Amino acid sequence: MSKRIVVLISGSGSNLQAIIDAIDAGQINGRIEAVLSNKAEAYGLERARQAGIPALSINHRDFESREQFDQAMIEQIDRYQPDLLVLAGFMRILTADFVRHYQGRMVNIHPSLLPKYKGLNTHQRALDAGDTEHGCTVHFVTEELDGGPLAMQGRVSVSAEDTADSLQQKVHRVEHILYPLAVAWFCADRLSWSADGVLLDGAPLPAQGYQLDQE
Ligand code: GAR
Repeated sequence: MSKRIVVLISGSGSNLQAIIDAIDAGQINGRIEAVLSNKAEAYGLERARQAGIPALSINHRDFESREQFDQAMIEQIDRYQPDLLVLAGFMRILTADFVRHYQGRMVNIHPSLLPKYKGLNTHQRALDAGDTEHGCTVHFVTEELDGGPLAMQGRVSVSAEDTADSLQQKVHRVEHILYPLAVAWFCADRLSWSADGVLLDGAPLPAQGYQLDQE
């Protein structure tokens, strides 16, 4: 059965666009029921509207606490009864209650090869460390920030000429391949996370997750 997807964003939504395009191309057995942003001006909301998807925003500043904000998000999101919640550049830290509510059906994409560089400024940190390799990770979301079990990774090589901006662009290009694939596999019941760990086609994945082959 086709899966119901809700996407959370805070910004440009280029990953959202990649998922919309993959659905349009018939690559994902699912439908985006709604896109929710904590910022009304996020360009990703415009992308959703252009695709005919309900575009919602809730301003976190309207709430006294993180708990209240997260509860309001849960109320909005659950109206759409999602099978999968996709964090695509959603830049708010989530409460334990929120995470537990969607455990096993919430994924995030992070712009580093986790467990390296949790948090912000990942591209500059990879450069500062002299890394020759960098990339992005799709993981299931747990209460530990950027710490949930890894599902998939895509790698890019770092060259001597790279800047934080050029690395970000390289990583984005891989994200736009990796994230739609992760969503497709989840929606096809191929990718899951349970007590047995992260499984692909019933077999446990290594700790770093599935490694995307490129070129
Ligand atoms: C992506 O690069 C994603 O990995 C990152 O935000 C960007 C959103 O881009 N996410 C995080 O940093 C989460 N901690 P987009 O709005 O164009 O999809």
